[in-house]
Amino acid sequence: MPQILPIVKYGVSKILEQPSMKVIEFGFKDKNNQLDTLAENMFATMYAAKGVGLAAPQIGIMLRVAVIDISSGEDPNMKLVLVNPEITERRGTMTVEEGCLSVPGKKETIERSAEVAVQYQDTKGQIYTVGGKGLLSQALQHEIDHLDGKLFLSYVSI
Ligand code: CO
Repeated sequence: MPQILPIVKYGVSKILEQPSMKVIEFGFKDKNNQLDTLAENMFATMYAAKGVGLAAPQIGIMLRVAVIDISSGEDPNMKLVLVNPEITERRGTMTVEEGCLSVPGKKETIERSAEVAVQYQDTKGQIYTVGGKGLLSQALQHEIDHLDGKLFLSYVSI
């Protein structure tokens, strides 16, 4: 059974402002894939908190792993597990309202790239590319920022 884990909150811990480490060890067929277990726990935690994305550092694990489901559990085909994701292309800009499960109760209007392409690995180390616009583009940028120790608050102009 996937576990619902506590989400690290901004202001309580500094780890959200630190970069995460690249995953270099992947699971093998003949043993329990720990990255699969991590991803399942992250989805359970994200759904329980009613979010559309979650990065591993938000549950205190400093690895470059993020999950996204902009359908909020409605469509299993929308579940994305991103290991070592990198933005390879950006196009245009959009103004969005954004929040974060680690910064409860706060929403800000910020600017994001309208479209992004992301290269990532799955939990077996296989390389894929995903492209997104709108909410998916926003979620990809938001979660990859978490892996770099960057919060959406840093885009808010004072
Ligand atoms: Co966040």
